[in-house]
Amino acid sequence: MIGIYDSGLGGLTALSEARAIMPDTDFIYFGDTAHLPYGTRSESAIIRYAREALSFLGDKGVDAVLCACGTVSSVALDEVKNDYPFAVMGVVEPAARAAVMASRKQKIAVSGTSATVKSDVFRKKILELSPNAEVISVGCDLFVSIVENGFANDMPIATEAAKRYLSGLSDCDTLILGCTHFPLLSEAIRRVLPQITLISSGKEGARSLVKYKKKETGKTEFYLSDTGGSFASMARVFLGYGISPIKKL
Ligand code: DGL
Repeated sequence: MIGIYDSGLGGLTALSEARAIMPDTDFIYFGDTAHLPYGTRSESAIIRYAREALSFLGDKGVDAVLCACGTVSSVALDEVKNDYPFAVMGVVEPAARAAVMASRKQKIAVSGTSATVKSDVFRKKILELSPNAEVISVGCDLFVSIVENGFANDMPIATEAAKRYLSGLSDCDTLILGCTHFPLLSEAIRRVLPQITLISSGKEGARSLVKYKKKETGKTEFYLSDTGGSFASMARVFLGYGISPIKKL
Protein backbone atom coordinates (compact mmCIF):
# COMPACT_ATOMS: atom_id res chain seq x y z
CA MET A 1 0.00 0.00 0.00
CA ILE A 2 1.24 3.46 -0.94
CA GLY A 3 0.45 6.66 0.93
CA ILE A 4 -0.13 9.94 -0.86
CA TYR A 5 -0.09 13.05 1.24
CA ASP A 6 -0.87 16.69 0.61
CA SER A 7 -2.36 19.60 2.52
CA GLY A 8 -5.60 19.25 0.54
CA LEU A 9 -6.76 18.56 -2.99
CA GLY A 10 -3.44 19.05 -4.82
CA GLY A 11 -2.19 15.53 -4.18
CA LEU A 12 -5.10 14.19 -6.25
CA THR A 13 -3.05 15.18 -9.31
CA ALA A 14 -0.52 12.59 -8.14
CA LEU A 15 -3.11 10.03 -7.02
CA SER A 16 -4.95 9.96 -10.35
CA GLU A 17 -1.69 9.37 -12.24
CA ALA A 18 -0.55 6.74 -9.72
CA ARG A 19 -3.91 4.93 -9.96
CA ALA A 20 -3.69 4.94 -13.75
CA ILE A 21 -0.24 3.36 -13.84
CA MET A 22 -0.74 1.03 -10.84
CA PRO A 23 -4.39 -0.07 -10.97
CA ASP A 24 -3.89 -3.09 -8.66
CA THR A 25 -2.02 -1.27 -5.93
CA ASP A 26 -3.80 -0.06 -2.78
CA PHE A 27 -3.51 3.64 -1.96
CA ILE A 28 -4.24 5.70 1.09
CA TYR A 29 -4.68 9.43 0.59
CA PHE A 30 -4.22 11.87 3.42
CA GLY A 31 -5.22 15.52 3.05
CA ASP A 32 -4.15 17.67 5.99
CA THR A 33 -7.10 19.99 5.53
CA ALA A 34 -6.99 21.19 9.15
CA HIS A 35 -3.69 22.92 8.42
CA LEU A 36 -4.23 24.05 4.82
CA PRO A 37 -2.66 26.12 3.29
CA TYR A 38 0.89 25.01 4.01
CA GLY A 39 2.55 27.42 1.61
CA THR A 40 2.47 30.46 3.87
CA ARG A 41 3.47 28.60 7.07
CA SER A 42 6.85 28.50 8.79
CA GLU A 43 9.39 25.77 8.14
CA SER A 44 8.98 24.38 11.65
CA ALA A 45 5.20 24.13 11.28
CA ILE A 46 5.48 22.36 7.89
CA ILE A 47 8.00 19.87 9.33
CA ARG A 48 5.70 19.19 12.30
CA TYR A 49 2.67 18.60 10.04
CA ALA A 50 4.75 16.32 7.81
CA ARG A 51 5.86 14.22 10.78
CA GLU A 52 2.26 13.86 12.00
CA ALA A 53 1.10 12.81 8.53
CA LEU A 54 3.92 10.31 8.07
CA SER A 55 3.32 8.72 11.48
CA PHE A 56 -0.39 8.41 10.68
CA LEU A 57 0.31 6.79 7.30
CA GLY A 58 3.00 4.59 8.87
CA ASP A 59 0.44 3.25 11.37
CA LYS A 60 -1.76 2.31 8.41
CA GLY A 61 1.01 0.05 7.11
CA VAL A 62 2.30 1.84 4.00
CA ASP A 63 5.33 0.61 2.04
CA ALA A 64 6.07 4.11 0.76
CA VAL A 65 4.68 7.63 0.95
CA LEU A 66 4.75 10.26 -1.75
CA CYS A 67 4.66 13.74 -0.24
CA ALA A 68 2.54 14.97 -3.14
CA CYS A 69 3.01 18.52 -2.00
CA GLY A 70 5.67 20.82 -3.40
CA THR A 71 5.86 22.66 -0.11
CA VAL A 72 6.51 19.56 2.02
CA SER A 73 8.90 18.19 -0.60
CA SER A 74 10.89 21.45 -0.62
CA VAL A 75 10.83 22.40 3.03
CA ALA A 76 10.52 19.19 5.07
CA LEU A 77 11.54 16.16 3.05
CA ASP A 78 15.28 16.20 3.77
CA GLU A 79 14.60 16.72 7.46
CA VAL A 80 12.15 13.81 7.85
CA LYS A 81 12.72 11.24 5.13
CA ASN A 82 15.15 8.99 6.99
CA ASP A 83 13.11 8.73 10.17
CA TYR A 84 10.59 6.09 9.01
CA PRO A 85 10.78 2.37 8.21
CA PHE A 86 9.23 3.04 4.78
CA ALA A 87 10.32 5.11 1.80
CA VAL A 88 9.40 8.80 1.91
CA MET A 89 9.51 10.50 -1.44
CA GLY A 90 8.83 13.93 -2.85
CA VAL A 91 8.00 15.69 -6.10
CA VAL A 92 10.97 18.06 -6.55
CA GLU A 93 13.52 15.75 -8.11
CA PRO A 94 11.11 14.01 -10.54
CA ALA A 95 9.67 17.36 -11.67
CA ALA A 96 13.08 19.00 -12.05
CA ARG A 97 14.28 16.04 -14.10
CA ALA A 98 11.22 16.16 -16.36
CA ALA A 99 11.65 19.92 -16.87
CA VAL A 100 15.32 19.64 -17.79
CA MET A 101 14.42 16.89 -20.29
CA ALA A 102 11.56 18.94 -21.76
CA SER A 103 13.18 22.37 -22.03
CA ARG A 104 14.83 23.16 -25.36
CA LYS A 105 16.26 26.52 -24.25
CA GLN A 106 16.99 25.45 -20.65
CA LYS A 107 15.01 28.50 -19.53
CA ILE A 108 12.80 27.01 -16.88
CA ALA A 109 10.23 28.71 -14.69
CA VAL A 110 9.13 27.30 -11.35
CA SER A 111 5.79 28.23 -9.81
CA GLY A 112 5.07 27.20 -6.25
CA THR A 113 3.98 28.42 -2.87
CA SER A 114 5.95 31.11 -1.05
CA ALA A 115 7.53 28.48 1.21
CA THR A 116 8.63 26.45 -1.81
CA VAL A 117 10.10 29.46 -3.61
CA LYS A 118 11.84 30.62 -0.43
CA SER A 119 13.47 27.21 0.00
CA ASP A 120 15.04 27.52 -3.48
CA VAL A 121 15.10 23.71 -3.67
CA PHE A 122 13.63 23.40 -7.18
CA ARG A 123 16.21 25.85 -8.58
CA LYS A 124 19.09 24.02 -6.89
CA LYS A 125 17.88 20.66 -8.18
CA ILE A 126 17.49 21.98 -11.75
CA LEU A 127 21.00 23.48 -11.66
CA GLU A 128 22.41 20.21 -10.34
CA LEU A 129 20.95 18.46 -13.39
CA SER A 130 21.64 21.25 -15.89
CA PRO A 131 24.29 23.69 -14.60
CA ASN A 132 23.75 26.26 -17.37
CA ALA A 133 19.98 26.41 -17.04
CA GLU A 134 18.28 29.73 -16.29
CA VAL A 135 15.66 29.38 -13.59
CA ILE A 136 12.99 31.90 -12.59
CA SER A 137 10.83 31.13 -9.56
CA VAL A 138 7.45 32.68 -8.77
CA GLY A 139 5.33 32.33 -5.64
CA CYS A 140 1.63 31.92 -6.51
CA ASP A 141 -0.10 31.32 -3.17
CA LEU A 142 -3.50 32.55 -4.31
CA PHE A 143 -3.76 29.65 -6.77
CA VAL A 144 -4.09 27.26 -3.79
CA SER A 145 -7.13 29.09 -2.39
CA ILE A 146 -8.70 29.37 -5.84
CA VAL A 147 -8.42 25.60 -6.28
CA GLU A 148 -9.63 24.77 -2.77
CA ASN A 149 -12.67 27.00 -3.36
CA GLY A 150 -13.73 25.48 -6.67
CA PHE A 151 -12.21 24.42 -9.97
CA ALA A 152 -12.27 27.91 -11.32
CA ASN A 153 -10.34 27.64 -14.61
CA ASP A 154 -13.06 29.52 -16.39
CA MET A 155 -13.60 32.15 -13.70
CA PRO A 156 -12.05 35.60 -14.21
CA ILE A 157 -10.24 35.37 -10.87
CA ALA A 158 -8.19 32.38 -12.10
CA THR A 159 -7.15 34.11 -15.31
CA GLU A 160 -6.47 37.38 -13.49
CA ALA A 161 -4.27 35.64 -10.89
CA ALA A 162 -2.45 33.72 -13.64
CA LYS A 163 -1.79 37.00 -15.50
CA ARG A 164 -0.45 38.74 -12.40
CA TYR A 165 1.80 35.88 -11.40
CA LEU A 166 2.99 34.50 -14.71
CA SER A 167 2.99 37.09 -17.49
CA GLY A 168 6.70 37.85 -16.91
CA LEU A 169 7.64 34.29 -17.83
CA SER A 170 7.01 34.32 -21.57
CA ASP A 171 10.73 33.91 -22.27
CA CYS A 172 10.78 30.49 -20.58
CA ASP A 173 9.76 27.43 -22.59
CA THR A 174 8.94 25.19 -19.61
CA LEU A 175 7.02 25.85 -16.41
CA ILE A 176 7.12 23.51 -13.44
CA LEU A 177 3.82 23.51 -11.58
CA GLY A 178 5.77 23.06 -8.36
CA CYS A 179 2.66 23.06 -6.21
CA THR A 180 0.45 20.05 -6.81
CA HIS A 181 -2.67 22.22 -6.72
CA PHE A 182 -1.62 24.19 -9.81
CA PRO A 183 -2.38 21.62 -12.56
CA LEU A 184 -6.03 22.13 -11.61
CA LEU A 185 -5.63 25.63 -13.07
CA SER A 186 -3.76 24.55 -16.23
CA GLU A 187 -6.34 26.06 -18.55
CA ALA A 188 -6.10 29.48 -16.92
CA ILE A 189 -2.29 29.22 -16.96
CA ARG A 190 -2.34 28.25 -20.65
CA ARG A 191 -4.40 31.34 -21.46
CA VAL A 192 -1.45 33.44 -20.23
CA LEU A 193 1.40 31.23 -21.49
CA PRO A 194 -0.03 29.31 -24.46
CA GLN A 195 3.31 28.01 -25.78
CA ILE A 196 4.90 26.86 -22.54
CA THR A 197 5.39 23.19 -21.63
CA LEU A 198 3.74 22.52 -18.28
CA ILE A 199 5.30 19.99 -15.92
CA SER A 200 2.95 18.66 -13.24
CA SER A 201 5.04 17.93 -10.15
CA GLY A 202 2.32 15.60 -8.81
CA LYS A 203 2.23 13.53 -11.96
CA GLU A 204 6.02 13.26 -12.16
CA GLY A 205 6.18 12.31 -8.48
CA ALA A 206 3.56 9.60 -9.03
CA ARG A 207 5.64 8.05 -11.82
CA SER A 208 8.56 7.66 -9.43
CA LEU A 209 6.38 5.39 -7.22
CA VAL A 210 6.28 2.59 -9.74
CA LYS A 211 8.88 0.50 -7.91
CA TYR A 212 6.35 0.11 -5.08
CA LYS A 213 3.68 -1.27 -7.39
CA LYS A 214 2.00 -4.37 -5.90
CA LYS A 215 -0.75 -6.77 -6.82
CA GLU A 216 -3.32 -5.84 -4.16
CA THR A 217 -7.04 -5.02 -4.33
CA GLY A 218 -6.71 -1.67 -6.13
CA LYS A 219 -8.64 0.30 -3.49
CA THR A 220 -8.06 3.87 -2.28
CA GLU A 221 -8.96 5.12 1.19
CA PHE A 222 -9.24 8.85 1.83
CA TYR A 223 -8.47 10.46 5.19
CA LEU A 224 -8.63 14.13 6.10
CA SER A 225 -7.53 15.90 9.27
CA ASP A 226 -10.69 18.01 9.02
CA THR A 227 -13.79 17.00 7.11
CA GLY A 228 -15.56 20.36 7.47
CA GLY A 229 -14.62 21.72 4.03
CA SER A 230 -15.64 20.86 0.51
CA PHE A 231 -12.94 18.27 -0.19
CA ALA A 232 -15.36 15.45 -1.05
CA SER A 233 -17.42 17.44 -3.54
CA MET A 234 -14.34 18.98 -5.16
CA ALA A 235 -12.59 15.61 -5.31
CA ARG A 236 -15.65 14.17 -7.04
CA VAL A 237 -15.37 16.79 -9.79
CA PHE A 238 -11.68 16.13 -10.21
CA LEU A 239 -11.66 12.32 -9.96
CA GLY A 240 -14.98 11.75 -11.72
CA TYR A 241 -16.28 9.50 -8.91
CA GLY A 242 -17.60 10.06 -5.41
CA ILE A 243 -15.56 9.43 -2.28
CA SER A 244 -16.34 9.44 1.43
CA PRO A 245 -13.31 10.75 3.28
CA ILE A 246 -12.82 9.57 6.83
CA LYS A 247 -11.69 11.91 9.57
CA LYS A 248 -8.21 11.04 10.81
CA LEU A 249 -8.33 10.41 14.56
N1 DGL B 1 -0.27 21.32 -2.72
C1 DGL B 1 0.74 21.92 -1.91
C2 DGL B 1 2.01 22.16 -2.65
O1 DGL B 1 2.24 21.40 -3.55
C3 DGL B 1 0.39 22.84 -0.84
C4 DGL B 1 -0.39 24.06 -1.09
C5 DGL B 1 -0.66 24.72 0.23
O2 DGL B 1 -1.18 24.05 1.13
O3 DGL B 1 -0.30 25.91 0.36
O4 DGL B 1 2.80 23.02 -2.35
